[in-house]
Amino acid sequence: MIHDLTLNNFRCFSSLNIKLSPGINFFYGKNGSGKTSILEAINLCSSAKSFKSGNLQSLISIGEEAFNIKGHDNTSGYSLVITKQKTKPISILLNNSKTTTSKLIREFPSTSIHNNTFSFADAPPDFRRKLLDKSIFIADKQFSETWFSYYRCLKQRNALLKNGSIINIEPWEKKLADLGKELTALRIKFFNNTFYELKDLISKLNKSPSTDFLENINISFYPGWDHDVELSELFKSNRNKDLRRKSTSEGPHKADIRFLIEDVEAKQILSRGEQKLFSILWCCAQHEVLRKYHEINAVLIIDDIKSELDDSTFEVFLNLLNFLNNQIIFSCIDDHFSSKIEADFREFKKFHVEQLK
Ligand SMILES: Nc1ncnc2c1ncn2[C@@H]1O[C@H](COP(=O)(O)OP(=O)(O)OP(=O)(O)O)[C@@H](O)[C@H]1O
Ligand SMILES: [Mg+2]
Repeated sequence: MIHDLTLNNFRCFSSLNIKLSPGINFFYGKNGSGKTSILEAINLCSSAKSFKSGNLQSLISIGEEAFNIKGHDNTSGYSLVITKQKTKPISILLNNSKTTTSKLIREFPSTSIHNNTFSFADAPPDFRRKLLDKSIFIADKQFSETWFSYYRCLKQRNALLKNGSIINIEPWEKKLADLGKELTALRIKFFNNTFYELKDLISKLNKSPSTDFLENINISFYPGWDHDVELSELFKSNRNKDLRRKSTSEGPHKADIRFLIEDVEAKQILSRGEQKLFSILWCCAQHEVLRKYHEINAVLIIDDIKSELDDSTFEVFLNLLNFLNNQIIFSCIDDHFSSKIEADFREFKKFHVEQLK
């Protein structure tokens, strides 16, 4: 978790230093004041990726050659320096040594919710699968080996299908099935724990008309195929179909988390505010699993919290904050926290972004 953040030539900030609270951090200010930029910088510290644009170069202040982000974690003593020069790839230094994105994701884990990803129910299946996989990757060192081996093996099977030469496909299918079962077992375990934490969080919330919809959502893990069928048998019986399609149609690479209301996809039924609140809850439940079962504190970043939420759904979010223990960073145009409300929260810090420059 970052406690001390310094930005140089990052979007609208030529230089900025802020001390973050390990608890709740709230950034407010008018359009263009720099809220998303600050959250973007914090997100970069935990992924080396931008959540807003795929192009890191566009984050360099106009007219400058490079941006620089420094972060310090007071708990672990870790120092992070991220530099992006116009013509060079991003450089990540952890305690002065070059490091990889994977290490960064594990050392500074976070999940971001912003206007493009506010609805997990409406996102494509691979979004939900990646969200789950990322948390397991952070929690379990073994997972990435299994994950990479599975996808390497899948590539091999798909290459054979593309070439139409499947004489040697059986050993690959056997290996793919073994790795796929391992992968699925880890996913099911993490999913079940998340589901439990979600129910627990929901049970703590004050009951209101804005929380009624939560009772009706049926959540299930879909492993990517009919789980009653043995995986190597599935690959075998799908061979002809897969040959025509030139790729592996079913298996753990098609896993998903399904949100249904009376057998209808939740995205068809829930309002945008309900979808956003539900996404926040799901994300918090995953973080609770990381914290309780793996002693990992992941940071929750929410840009523009109030968009899509009416006052009573926002109240549910405020109520939820009481039950979260990790660092939370969120932004909003208006200041929704009077000093009276502020006093209710642990380690609450409020930043008026216009005044930071
Ligand atoms: N590379 C850049 N160089 C200089 N300024 C930039 C760069 N990229 C973005 N900006 C500017 O930075 C300012 C802050 O943008 P940001 O998206 O952080 O604002 P915001 O507070 O989130 O606003 P909103 O409430 O509209 O979401 C904007 O005026 C934007 O035009
Ligand atoms: Mg913004």
